[in-house]
Amino acid sequence: MDKKQEAVKEGKMDKVINLCLRRGILFPSNEIYGSTSGFFDYGPVGVELKKNLEKSWWKYIVNDRENVVGIDGALINVSKVWKASGHVDSFNDPLVECKKCHLRFRADSLIEEELKISMDGVGVKQLQELIDKHKIKCPKCGGEFTEVQVFNLMFKTHVGAIEDEASLMYLRPETAQLIFTDFKRVLATSRKKLPFGIAQIGKAFRNEISPRNFVFRSREFNQMELEFFINPEKMNDVEIKKDDLNLESFFYTQEMQENNKNHERMNFEKALKEGIIGTKWHAYWMIEFFKWFKSIGIKTENMRFRQHVKTELSHYSSETWDLDYNYPWGWKEMEGIANRTDYDLKQHSKFSGVDLSFFDEKEKKKIVPFVIEPSTGVERTILTVLIDAYTERDDERIFLDLNPIIAPVKLAVLPLMPKEELEKKALEVFNGLKKEVVCDYDANGSIGKRYSRFDEIGTPFAITIDYQTIEDDTVTLRYRNDMNQERVKISDLKAKLSELM
Ligand code: GAP
Repeated sequence: MDKKQEAVKEGKMDKVINLCLRRGILFPSNEIYGSTSGFFDYGPVGVELKKNLEKSWWKYIVNDRENVVGIDGALINVSKVWKASGHVDSFNDPLVECKKCHLRFRADSLIEEELKISMDGVGVKQLQELIDKHKIKCPKCGGEFTEVQVFNLMFKTHVGAIEDEASLMYLRPETAQLIFTDFKRVLATSRKKLPFGIAQIGKAFRNEISPRNFVFRSREFNQMELEFFINPEKMNDVEIKKDDLNLESFFYTQEMQENNKNHERMNFEKALKEGIIGTKWHAYWMIEFFKWFKSIGIKTENMRFRQHVKTELSHYSSETWDLDYNYPWGWKEMEGIANRTDYDLKQHSKFSGVDLSFFDEKEKKKIVPFVIEPSTGVERTILTVLIDAYTERDDERIFLDLNPIIAPVKLAVLPLMPKEELEKKALEVFNGLKKEVVCDYDANGSIGKRYSRFDEIGTPFAITIDYQTIEDDTVTLRYRNDMNQERVKISDLKAKLSELM
């Protein structure tokens, strides 16, 4: 990418943030008191977008499948959960502090920004060597840094009247562990057999050293996670449709990264045949999510699968693929799809003393299942959708090219002018449609300004009520992207919109 393209991409992020603030999508929390970075609130438009996105995920992963069920677990958990999971000991990020102004930075992000190279999988020792070699100083005051240390990202709290070791609890840094701790009860009550999954959408909290890129890395965010449990001997026992195997994406393997090669385009059939993806179940879920992101409107050419290099793998994972997006600041993780093996269930069995194996009736033996975990951040997905959908035309018109499935408002109902007879008719049309489709009514300001407002929040369709409507019961239906208009009878609107949607 040349410098001009880079500038355009960087500008896009500012424009998306500006749009979020201007249109009440997402904005810093506690704004009137001066916010703390990493915490955000959704406004009226954003909350609809969030609900649509979560609904689409839940339907695709839970409601449309006979082998996945859902839970909604507590946010604050006993410390043993996080001791068992390994988070208390190893959920750390590398930290440096400026000796002069005492600002703290995440060492890998700092080096990435200074040297414009990826720090994926680079350990503390190498980070220190890079800081020393390139004489990296504090970007704020030019001061020297302390040695790289590790910083635990868990938020602690005490529950009850006494603050001691026994009352120590943690805010969950991922939703996944609740699925493991609930495994036995869900298994007993849902009567599922392997392979099956448990899904959850909910809050996660991480005391990030340097939250950045708007909601991309925040301290309080939502995750959509699936833990899919499989007999370890049957990790390849799944039929993948031919059409799905033929799907193509960019793949960036361990080997390509280690040898400084570029990512390559290939189909999933090749990736499986050549052993690039370790197991068929892993490939199955990579494909399912590739299709889901596509279904919510993300362009496939902006996605790639990047394999974690060995030094980067989490303590629980035998193989992880990030589904990356080409953000204005480079390719970064949008979703992680990990093979967590039997690590978590075994750890929780050990720490709780409760047997978390599955009894296989057919084979008459206990099995501790392996787990494939696709894990996605809600806010990160929303940011990705907004960046991908943000469109500026030559005439300086701005619109969000959102898929109607996730558009916060599907239809704008607009009287052409603020005249009583037009408003009355428009409200009549609005009331007739509001139960069928999420619509909004707006009679304030010029029609051009109202179209712009709805274009900017990605409303795919608008209908305008004018004097002709009073005469012949027809309205103008306007399409967001090309601004084409057609005349439609009010009585045909429901059918027309359901066809379009
Ligand atoms: N259970 C596995 C897990 O939590 P992760 O890679 O740490 O894995 C999964 O997180 C996803 O959660 C990421 O791909 C990202 O979309 C989202 N995520 C992680 N940390 C985040 C943060 N600080 N702010 C916003 N989203 C985050």
